[in-house]
Amino acid sequence: MKTQTLEKPLELNRIIQGDALEVLKTFPDESFDLVLTDPPYNAKNIGPNARVYSMGKMKLPTMEYKKFCHDWFTEAQRVAKTIIFTPGIANTHNYPQPFWQICWHKPAAVSFNRMGGFNAWEPIFIYGKPKARIGQDYKRQDTLNLTPGIWKEHPCPKPLSLWEWLIDKFSKEGDIILDPFEGSGTTSRACKNLKRKSIGIEINPDYVKIAKARLSQELLL
Ligand SMILES: C[S@@+](CC[C@H](N)C(=O)[O-])C[C@H]1O[C@@H](n2cnc3c(N)ncnc32)[C@H](O)[C@@H]1O
Repeated sequence: MKTQTLEKPLELNRIIQGDALEVLKTFPDESFDLVLTDPPYNAKNIGPNARVYSMGKMKLPTMEYKKFCHDWFTEAQRVAKTIIFTPGIANTHNYPQPFWQICWHKPAAVSFNRMGGFNAWEPIFIYGKPKARIGQDYKRQDTLNLTPGIWKEHPCPKPLSLWEWLIDKFSKEGDIILDPFEGSGTTSRACKNLKRKSIGIEINPDYVKIAKARLSQELLL
């Protein structure tokens, strides 16, 4: 990571409300040790209850969504050498070949797959050549292990313990981590729990409120 001597120092541990594509451009090159994120999948319905995002430009035409993937990823590469994210199974082809992929195995998941059954895993893409030692390259983690209440307010929060596992393996104490698609604030909360610094970006003001509340709590939620 670049030392921030010439540029204005980043204001850390905060959630910025805005469009990631615009906000990302405001950060100097290599401002972050890690970009860890969970970008919107362009899914109309999310999960068996068909809950949808109320904002966030979901269900773009295919070419527009491809451009969205290209644009945020290009900016992410500019601001950090290591990028880790869950592309969504149906979207893996929208991104360049990763250095490696990890499998998140979620055996109790009840989201439908396109094959008439249930979707029990998700890829996690790793870019850069992080020196992490993860042992076997999969993580078993039920989706049910969510912060109580959060899943009622956001359609698809990631499990805090899965995110803590990634942060623990791919960063160290004091590192600065960016999540351009913060949602309910899982990345920032996990960073606080593990003594990392963070910035989150989220377009939807309702989700920003949830993320800020989560980040301000002293309990490990
Ligand atoms: C898959 S969710 C992230 C969920 C998050 N990992 C969590 O645990 O809550 C993607 C998020 O990106 C937000 N989003 C969509 N387009 C955006 C944009 N252009 N800029 C910033 N956020 C955006 C959506 O509102 C949604 O909350």
